Amino acid sequence: MKINRKHFLKVIGLGTTGMIVNDGRGDNLAALADSRAQQFNMHGYGAPKLDKVRVGIIGVGERGSGTVVRLASLQGVEIKALCDVVPHRVKSSYDLLSKEFSGHNPQSYSDNQQSWKQVCEREDIDLIYIATPWNLHATIAIYAMKHDKHVYTELPVGVTIEECWKVVETSETTRKHCFMGCGSCHDGMSATILNMARHGYFGEIIHGEGHYIHDRVSNNQQRWQRDKNNNNWFGYRPWRLQENVNRNGNLYPAHGLGPVSQIMDLNYGDKMNYLVSISSGDFTMSHKMEEISAIDEYFKPYVGLDFRGNMNTTIIRTQRGRTIMLQHDISSPRPGLRFDMISGNKGIYKARPDRIANSHDGWLSEGEFNQLTEKYVPEITRKFNEKRRLANTGQRNRGYEQVTASDWRLIDCLRNGLPLEMDVYDAALWSAITPLSEWSTANQGASIKVPDFTGGSWETNKRGMDVAIQSGGTTNLV
Ligand SMILES: NC(=O)c1ccc[n+]([C@@H]2O[C@H](COP(=O)([O-])OP(=O)(O)OC[C@H]3O[C@@H](n4cnc5c(N)ncnc54)[C@H](O)[C@@H]3O)[C@@H](O)[C@H]2O)c1
Repeated sequence: MKINRKHFLKVIGLGTTGMIVNDGRGDNLAALADSRAQQFNMHGYGAPKLDKVRVGIIGVGERGSGTVVRLASLQGVEIKALCDVVPHRVKSSYDLLSKEFSGHNPQSYSDNQQSWKQVCEREDIDLIYIATPWNLHATIAIYAMKHDKHVYTELPVGVTIEECWKVVETSETTRKHCFMGCGSCHDGMSATILNMARHGYFGEIIHGEGHYIHDRVSNNQQRWQRDKNNNNWFGYRPWRLQENVNRNGNLYPAHGLGPVSQIMDLNYGDKMNYLVSISSGDFTMSHKMEEISAIDEYFKPYVGLDFRGNMNTTIIRTQRGRTIMLQHDISSPRPGLRFDMISGNKGIYKARPDRIANSHDGWLSEGEFNQLTEKYVPEITRKFNEKRRLANTGQRNRGYEQVTASDWRLIDCLRNGLPLEMDVYDAALWSAITPLSEWSTANQGASIKVPDFTGGSWETNKRGMDVAIQSGGTTNLV
């Protein structure tokens, strides 16, 4: 495969190895991999209680407009600001809020690319939510924390190792939380399997697998039909298509990695040591560009470019000797897959279909599986489901509008002054896989060290993710 040198090739000395270093975004990974001294430990830290969580929302595209509804569905949340460079997106979120919810009268911000700064500068906001394209997340998060706001960002928190470090350092110096939304940690079987692992069901955890396999190319015509009345928006997203050019690696690791990371106690009992990563070639994206550019000239500039290979496989080794395999493929026609497998010295869980085994003799029957897992549904899931039942909110049209346990617990922790289920160290670690995997992929699968964003405190940090919900759980759905 061609490497586009103009975009990202640079050479730095790596001692005797003399390797070519390609970091995708300009990181000097050799220098950034080392641990830095921690200034304040945000793990286990509960910020002062907020009875009401006043929120500024930045980016109300597909995901952000759904989050407006999800957050408005939680007790104690007041949405104070809506910001997007596209004014009509702000207006439709405003209209929906006014029509379906009470107690919100947000101000709109759409003047220019920097209007989000005004939102962060307001003194009557506690939490900034970010759902813009990836390259803005760290900049906005850091600015928000420096203006005394907690942060809830969509994945990833940063696109370079240096950005990840800066987010961690800013969170520590400001003592502001930085939460990266990774609903997969609470969704589906994840919380139950985590609970089983904590009760020792799988024994010593040996290996885990998590993926982002999600066909964004072939499964839906809307992926490529531009909506000319909506700033040429199309299902794949214009900015996201660009992200897939001239890059090769795991561009979206967190959904699959989050649950595995929590089961392995990464950042609180274990840590990642190093990873290797290899990508296949591209077998679909370039063909797709040729196909759709014949219909829509908008896509002509994408013809002949280098696209991310279909399948990236990254393998991580932890300090305690566990391995993790992550895969990323968003352009092959195949069913989706996220948190996929956890294997210990007493048993194994595997997804799609969900199954459990304790020996080489075969999987438990469906009945046995259901009986077993029902026993381990954790209190966090039971409590959230009960709150949802009591609120009787019904099913929303769009999945992104359906309030999740993850959103609920974030707001609940802020309102009760509790540590977050996923903290800034998780956000940085899970995001860092992208630039590290890009580097390894560009260097024929060479091994690269994973930074320890906890500055060594992983050895003494207490477990995160309170699935037993020993504190809090008091926030209702409305
Ligand atoms: N957790 C999940 O399940 C999930 C699902 C979908 C998307 N996401 C994440 O959400 C984020 C947004 O993705 P999306 O699919 O909604 O994209 P999108 O393109 O639909 O929305 C992004 C919005 O950001 C706005 N924007 C761009 N620059 C801005 C600026 N300077 N100031 C204010 N607004 C600006 C755009 O106008 C757009 O409305 C991404 O990080 C994506 O990875 C997460």
